Amino acid sequence: MTAVSQPSPHADAERHGTERLRSRVAEALARSRDRSIALTDAVDDDDLVRQHSKLMSPLVWDLAHVGNQEELWLVRDVGGRDPVRADIDELYDAFKHARSDRPALPLLEPAEARTYLHQVRDKVLDVLDHTQLEGRTLVDNAFAFGMIAQHEQQHDETMLATHQLRIGEPVLHAPPPPPGAALPAAEVLVPAGRFTMGTSTEPWALDNERPAHTVDVPAFFVDTAPVSNGDYLRFLESGGYDDERWWSAEGWRLIRDHAIHAPRFWEHDGDRWERLRFGVREPLNPREPVVHVSFHEAEAYAAWAGRRLPTEVEWEKAARHDPASGRSRRYPWGDDDPTVEHANLGQRHLQPAEVGAYPAGASPLGVHQLIGDVWEWTSSGFHGYPGFTVFPYAEYSQVFFGADYKVLRGGSFGTDAVTCRGTFRNWDYPIRRQIFAGFRCARDARLGELG
Ligand code: AVJ
Ligand code: FE
Repeated sequence: MTAVSQPSPHADAERHGTERLRSRVAEALARSRDRSIALTDAVDDDDLVRQHSKLMSPLVWDLAHVGNQEELWLVRDVGGRDPVRADIDELYDAFKHARSDRPALPLLEPAEARTYLHQVRDKVLDVLDHTQLEGRTLVDNAFAFGMIAQHEQQHDETMLATHQLRIGEPVLHAPPPPPGAALPAAEVLVPAGRFTMGTSTEPWALDNERPAHTVDVPAFFVDTAPVSNGDYLRFLESGGYDDERWWSAEGWRLIRDHAIHAPRFWEHDGDRWERLRFGVREPLNPREPVVHVSFHEAEAYAAWAGRRLPTEVEWEKAARHDPASGRSRRYPWGDDDPTVEHANLGQRHLQPAEVGAYPAGASPLGVHQLIGDVWEWTSSGFHGYPGFTVFPYAEYSQVFFGADYKVLRGGSFGTDAVTCRGTFRNWDYPIRRQIFAGFRCARDARLGELG
């Protein structure tokens, strides 16, 4: 008779932990894939291969690119398996072809792209079953799998932005978000002091969120909610787009060159403003956060209002600092993952929610809707934190470091929770308006206001 060794309680707990991690990974991968499929099945093949805007790839490029990144990292690198397709890497390398050139490439046809994604995913699920999720930095805590789930969700948000640019009948549908509520204050004081920015412990945090480091932040006031359509309309109707005083030199030149006098997708009809949302024309809701504004428009509004944009450091302190413990938390409401009560994320709704719609998501100081609804422009360029190291590839973050990009924080209604947290950093050119970006304002605290 062969002796069967009794598993130790410790090994047993470890096995359970690993199984839980594997099912979390499988779930995250399945969720991102369901979304990619829904976004691409919503339109016909003609629509998939067409370029809806020079700023965007054809949807079918995003789709196959998502599969190709998954193949590169999970099938070939983590899994050490043979390529599914060795002939297409170059086509789907974002650095080889600008978005505007992608429609002319010999891309996979929609049906081929779908088959490719299936083949890759089948292998990946097998790799997941057979890979130890520790012992190599790339796979510790299933990082590479988490990175790929985040990558797909980021392209899903990009595809959602392409849908917003697409001309045609509405094809996406979702229930409206919960209604707003009045907030007790328009702004709150964030007291001066040190706080921990970034993270060294969040398992799926990307390289630009690392490492955790201490920053000393002077006292400042921050808005308790993002700037609303109603607020923004007052700026517009008081002649804000015609008054050079509120604009930086670059912002002023750009709005004149491009004849911009309102947020993107706003339309003036008679005496009222409407907005176009995924093919639906509707009255502008004054209580919703403004969306589809450039950094320059955000900056001009803030100047008009006698305020300024928060720095990235201020934004993260407002979102993560717990004054009671002095600790930085994962989210404004604490360390628990977002639920539908906390934030408008994941394309559950097709628009930002009205101000005050997520009381359970507020920070201890009473700052609302930092997570979800709209990406928030900050005044900061995109730089590596002290001690930054590339992981696992320079083309995710490092090649974009510099003052050309502005950092956006907090995620939008189109951002999935897997790729949104208090430390998560997004960036884009300050002229961009097709992303789901809005902003909130801040101001210095004056002597005598320090609480
Ligand atoms: C972090 C949203 C700026 O879309 O350019 C996707 C994410 N990186 N594929 C982008 C990304 C590589 C990135 N952003
Ligand atoms: Fe990508």
